[in-house]
Amino acid sequence: MSIKDKVAIIGMGCTSFGEHWDKSASDLLVEAAYEALEDAGLEPRDIQAYWLGTCASGWAGISLSEPLKIQYRPVTRVENFCATGTDAFRNACYAVAAGAYDIAMAIGVEKLKDSGYSGLVITPPPGDGTAPNYSAPAAFSLLAPAYFKKYGLDPETGKLVLARIAYKNHKNGALNPKAQFRQEVPLEKILNSPIVAAPLGIMDCSGVADGAAAAIIVRSEDAKKFKKDPVYVKAISVVCGPGHGALHQDFDFTSIRETYYAGLDAYRQAGITNPRKEISMAEVHDCFTPTELVIYEDLGFSERGKAWQDVLNGVFDLDGELPVNPDGGLKSFGHPIGASGLRMLYEMYLQLRGLAGPRQIDNPKLGLTHNLGGFPWEAVCSVCIVGKETG
Ligand code: COA
Repeated sequence: MSIKDKVAIIGMGCTSFGEHWDKSASDLLVEAAYEALEDAGLEPRDIQAYWLGTCASGWAGISLSEPLKIQYRPVTRVENFCATGTDAFRNACYAVAAGAYDIAMAIGVEKLKDSGYSGLVITPPPGDGTAPNYSAPAAFSLLAPAYFKKYGLDPETGKLVLARIAYKNHKNGALNPKAQFRQEVPLEKILNSPIVAAPLGIMDCSGVADGAAAAIIVRSEDAKKFKKDPVYVKAISVVCGPGHGALHQDFDFTSIRETYYAGLDAYRQAGITNPRKEISMAEVHDCFTPTELVIYEDLGFSERGKAWQDVLNGVFDLDGELPVNPDGGLKSFGHPIGASGLRMLYEMYLQLRGLAGPRQIDNPKLGLTHNLGGFPWEAVCSVCIVGKETG
């Protein structure tokens, strides 16, 4: 069973990400939706069903139907941690592939900046008060010393490897007019940024931003009626873990199993056996620099224990063997949760069609997107693969 080549993207929109003090979540949704409609050459009445991804910026489908003035059509709100936007996309793709609708929209939004707090502010469901509480930087900081120890990196080399990942992503983001942070950041500044959760400094963390992004999906056989160069869906996987990591004393923090299994499933669907060679580029969930390091190994881009060398050798740079986060990643965009997965797909959609401007990668064929929500020991992960041609 696979979604491979059953559906295609014929239009996308993405707002700039950042501090949108002057815009509401509704404003951002309208902007992304209308950009996607214009891109596809469609009117709002052409969209038969909608999937709205948002973690904390709206309830129910009305959060979209009211701003878009949707005339009595189905809207489903989706929430699945940091995979929220991708899961909205997954549901829209499945509905079209199943023949329930001919044209659907997946759209994601989050408005986080004017919460008055630092970091990602989401109200958790009520518990009994006994669950341990970690900030996201604290939870993901645990990956760094574990990786350094297992693979014999001294702390200075380890910190340099992490800084090199942030440096790459900010360098790419500086080329992107839609990014929140659009400046290159020197390695020295990254290495010496104030510590948030040791060994992670501010510059090892992704930012917090407002933003929205949208995609319009049709069946592959109809795609060229709308767009001469649609982008075809090759695989979509969403994986939720059992949370064993929190129970095991020997959980080693150098692999996030949900990423590994989401990757395996996506590669099976797309028929990929050698991801390092077959994937042209990827957008991965660089919530923190050690997360990106571990993702390289979990997705099979690097051999176990070798990703740090690949980082230092520039393998994942824009002009490297397998560019990762060509748009600047969460590091440059921040992470408006419901929008991030669709923002990643937006970059793949531009790149595969040769429209990424100064970030353009040479003749890409397959692009991968990846999200990771939760904690290293208990996560929701998604992997999508999209391509330029069928077959
Ligand atoms: N990258 C680059 N620059 C950043 C940045 C980042 N990640 N985060 C903040 N900055 C800059 C800001 O632009 C600001 O610069 P200025 O003083 O010149 O205006 C400065 O650093 C301080 O920014 P501020 O918004 O006050 O940040 P903060 O101190 O409130 O929070 C973090 C910084 C890193 C703690 C916060 O962004 C954070 O928690 N990030 C992680 C989000 C997260 O949990 N993601 C998880 C997803 S699983």
